Amino acid sequence: MYALEMNHITKEFPGVKALSGVNLKVRQGEIHALCGENGAGKSTLMKVLSGLYPSGTYTGEIKVDGEPKTFASITDAERAGIAIIHQELALVKEMTIGENIFLGSEPVKRGVIQWDQLYRAAADWLERVGLHMSPDTPIGNLGIGQQQLVEIAKALSKHTRILILDEPTAALTESEVEILAGILNQLRSQGVSCIYISHKMPEVFRLADSITVLRDGQTIATLDRNETNDDQIVSLMVGRELTERYPRVPHRPGEVVLEVNHYRVWHKEKADQKVIRDASFQLRRGEILGIAGLMGAGRTELVSSLFGAYEGRAEGEVRINGKPARIRSVADAIAAGMALVTEDRKRQGLVLPMDVKTNTTMATMGRVSRFGIINDNEEIRWGEQYVRELKTKTASLETPAGTLSGGNQQKVVIGKWLMSNPTILIMDEPTRGIDVGAKYEIYNLMNRLVEQGVAILMISSELPEVLGMSDRILVMCEGQLVQELDYREATQETIMLAATGGK
Ligand SMILES: Nc1ncnc2c1ncn2[C@@H]1O[C@H](COP(=O)(O)OP(=O)(O)OP(=O)(O)O)[C@@H](O)[C@H]1O
Ligand SMILES: [Mg+2]
Repeated sequence: MYALEMNHITKEFPGVKALSGVNLKVRQGEIHALCGENGAGKSTLMKVLSGLYPSGTYTGEIKVDGEPKTFASITDAERAGIAIIHQELALVKEMTIGENIFLGSEPVKRGVIQWDQLYRAAADWLERVGLHMSPDTPIGNLGIGQQQLVEIAKALSKHTRILILDEPTAALTESEVEILAGILNQLRSQGVSCIYISHKMPEVFRLADSITVLRDGQTIATLDRNETNDDQIVSLMVGRELTERYPRVPHRPGEVVLEVNHYRVWHKEKADQKVIRDASFQLRRGEILGIAGLMGAGRTELVSSLFGAYEGRAEGEVRINGKPARIRSVADAIAAGMALVTEDRKRQGLVLPMDVKTNTTMATMGRVSRFGIINDNEEIRWGEQYVRELKTKTASLETPAGTLSGGNQQKVVIGKWLMSNPTILIMDEPTRGIDVGAKYEIYNLMNRLVEQGVAILMISSELPEVLGMSDRILVMCEGQLVQELDYREATQETIMLAATGGK
């Protein structure tokens, strides 16, 4: 008997059949990875399971421990022992850790919340997930990895038997991934089943006992980890053989377009602290310059400051095309020919309720409007071009960006900045949350841009991506640029050594 069975699940949205007859069977106490390209239906399937899409809004059958179940709400699913941690974190920033864990299920005695009891219980759960912090810390003070652990503590506090994690490690550091892996292994030994969504194959193979692949809203296969491999899963996902992951083509770097000398940036709140202690580098026309480093090394602060989007004070010399540049705002940066694809599409990249076409043309209204009047045809033409080039999966150009799958939202962000026709394109984790097939399309597109003379500055935490795509690699460590490497001499080891402050 399976801990969970989902049979023939079909779910439609206006104009999109997100799931057509999906089957998923999960054993008790196993980690079951759910893999598939962006838009394959993974998150939708999990939203059906967790009651977010209540029974009646889909067809098919859910069985828990062999018993048929219908969930009218999230609370219903939680009562059956099912909890989900969503792709985008959902904690309340203004509340404490403890309040968040017990939000909606506070211990109450005669109508009064028992705060002592709540905080004691919260401390216990934090202990269980290995987060050594006081439960009265506000969530706003926590990093993404720590918030993830709070989400897990919250899920466990509901006596979860089936825990769903939707891309839990997209934004985690190595050591946080390590902690998470430890917790999942422990849960497995306690008989909890985990459904684990990830685009990172090494992680899937390290953690999962079995793997189900979805493609275009259908179940393609469920395989035992020991009877399959990385390449097979990837080709099942994309529906074809994918022999090469990084399309490397020879680049011909030209003159320097961006020169940065002794650049320093101060913390936006703590004005006496530097987030960038010293950075000097040159970026050339027609090359990809990678920036590697651990989370917190200051890479995002460096590029967002150069782009006029970081609030902390900055000093040092910046030259664009040989001339001194003073960039005080994003508008200045765009005017100077820069574009920034941010890592956080929800906060900085997209206006979720607005449609795909508007999001695409937003940063460059000048190109689709005259005298302040938007030319619809132009807007549609550009929108269509980027949807086609990036193979964005969307029902139409009028679809609200917020309803696209995570990876497809990222493609809209990329399209928006490509449209501004930049000479300097900065990409901060450009393929985070993007499936292998779509990654390949983005890499090809980067190569085409470079051929046209665009200079690309790419931050990436995925070392194979940095090594596979960059011409040169800068390594940052604690706010400092510590090393520059040619891709031919760089290895994962040399980069890690520099990034961790080794010599
Ligand atoms: N609320 C919604 N309204 C309309 N369409 C939706 C909605 N949610 C999802 N879809 C569509 O359903 C399909 C499946 O989306 P889903 O989010 O499940 O993909 P996913 O496998 O989780 O992808 P990713 O890896 O990018 O997160 C996509 O085509 C998506 O655009
Ligand atoms: Mg998803």
